[in-house]
Amino acid sequence: MLRPIVHLALGITCLAMVSIVTATDGDKPGQHAVASAHPAATAAGREILDGGGNAFDAAIAVAAALAVVEPYSSGIGGGAFFLLHRAASGADIFVDARETAPAAATADMYLDAQGEFVRDRALNGPLAAAIPGVPAALAHLASRYGKLPLTTSLAPAIRLAKEGFAIGPRYKMMAGFRTKAFSASPAAAEIFLRDGVAPEVGARIVQLDLAATLESIASDGAESFYRGALAERLVAGVRAAGGIWTLADLAGYAVKERPPIVTMYHDIKVVSAPPPSSGGIVLAEAFNILERYDLAALSEVDRVHVVIEAMRRAYRDRADFLGDPDFTTIPTARLLAKAYADSLAKDLSLETATPSAALPAIGIKPEGEDTTHFSVLDADGNRVAATLSVNYPFGATSVPPGTGVLLNNEMDDFSARPLTPNAYGLVGAGANAIAPGKRPLSSMTPTFLITPRRIGIIGTPGGSRIISMVLIGALEFARDLPPSEWVSAKRFHHQYLPDEVQYEKGGLSEGLQDALAAKGHSLKELTRNYGNMHAVLWDKRAGVVDAASDPRGEGGAQVWRPQP
Ligand code: DON
Repeated sequence: MLRPIVHLALGITCLAMVSIVTATDGDKPGQHAVASAHPAATAAGREILDGGGNAFDAAIAVAAALAVVEPYSSGIGGGAFFLLHRAASGADIFVDARETAPAAATADMYLDAQGEFVRDRALNGPLAAAIPGVPAALAHLASRYGKLPLTTSLAPAIRLAKEGFAIGPRYKMMAGFRTKAFSASPAAAEIFLRDGVAPEVGARIVQLDLAATLESIASDGAESFYRGALAERLVAGVRAAGGIWTLADLAGYAVKERPPIVTMYHDIKVVSAPPPSSGGIVLAEAFNILERYDLAALSEVDRVHVVIEAMRRAYRDRADFLGDPDFTTIPTARLLAKAYADSLAKDLSLETATPSAALPAIGIKPEGEDTTHFSVLDADGNRVAATLSVNYPFGATSVPPGTGVLLNNEMDDFSARPLTPNAYGLVGAGANAIAPGKRPLSSMTPTFLITPRRIGIIGTPGGSRIISMVLIGALEFARDLPPSEWVSAKRFHHQYLPDEVQYEKGGLSEGLQDALAAKGHSLKELTRNYGNMHAVLWDKRAGVVDAASDPRGEGGAQVWRPQP
């Protein structure tokens, strides 16, 4: 039910913000690049890179700064996926900092006595909050991959929290959307609203408790969040407001490193997010289907049709098979096999849409509209694609008093009841049912695109539409276009169920609409645009580093040469 947000169109139609620098050395980019959803977060990454940090230190700084200046999207009280590439070893590493369900969570915790799903419980207040992963991730990145101490890499975020930042139109829109939900948490409303309503553009948000929480993580590590006085305050605040967290839940949280999903699309090596993200597998299945077609030789309508049909089939499998891999057996090798794509594509007609009901039945799955993505490349070639979330705008709209930590509502990414859609219209079943300690299935899809000549770093927020956006952006990369084109490409989406092609306002021309309808597609134009993609390209052969922020958002992309 993101519709209320959807109606709050920002109407931003500016050009993608782009930054390009030409390099000299083919082995290393020789310059840094950061693209994120907020200029202050991009500046935080720049400060850390200029101060001798690497891409991983910069990722810590950007993530922490976004937690301060974009609180409706991600935060210390939320979760994240960080896809890393270490230039020195060539290794690609996926850091899974997804939230986990508290031990007292039960499969039916959001159902009333009649077995009906109570949406409010899964979205608003601490009962909707899973155990945060971001503090552990920041400490993990610093100790294992960074060069700088957290006291340095968290400094820009601490400064922003103490000094405050001026809000933009996006903040105002999100706060307006969540005003009513905030009324249940005075501690949260006091920080994020003004006299109970959304602040005006330009108002300053100061977060002293959050600054103190970040300072204790900086000086004492993640332990200071997951154990001790802060943990006690978090648990007390959560429980006083109806939540079920325990000290043991916090103490038991751990990030996990997992092998990324790797697939080839023609000559592009796609490195992406493994479960508990659905992104990498759905992307790979869609690419495997698309590889069977010469997209460049198809008419525009046939090309869009084939992409829609690939999305439909890949999202069906998401609903059927995907969940937390520590709880659910996922037939990954089978789903990624090229021969499997042959079977998926055998009933794909160029003439007519395949009704979703004609695909094998399943017990379906879900997702959302706030979250954030950033991309970092450093001069040595280290890179980070990171997507972070509190799920719904401003998460659970609840802050345990004295912590400054805005709680996520990621529990809604579980399937609360078989076939009951979550806030974003996705449905699921057993593979993504709620269980203690389990990670809710995500669509967050931080991705690297690699050819012998070019390397792309890409991702976006957007709930279930994340994966289709990354697919469309990657197809622009495949056409050898620059990041400004990946982030601004028109967006359309099919997620198997509901059986409709959703497209952003103006996303399909009238001619395409008519031609797709004639093939049997049911079309739904959304009332606004969606997504907020931030991408970086390193073109080794041309010696160019280029970065772009989505024109739909308020982000900032910078490319610059390190000072000698
Ligand atoms: O993990 C997920 O898939 C969702 N919690 C992401 C939500 C989201 O992207 C909201 N978007 N704009």
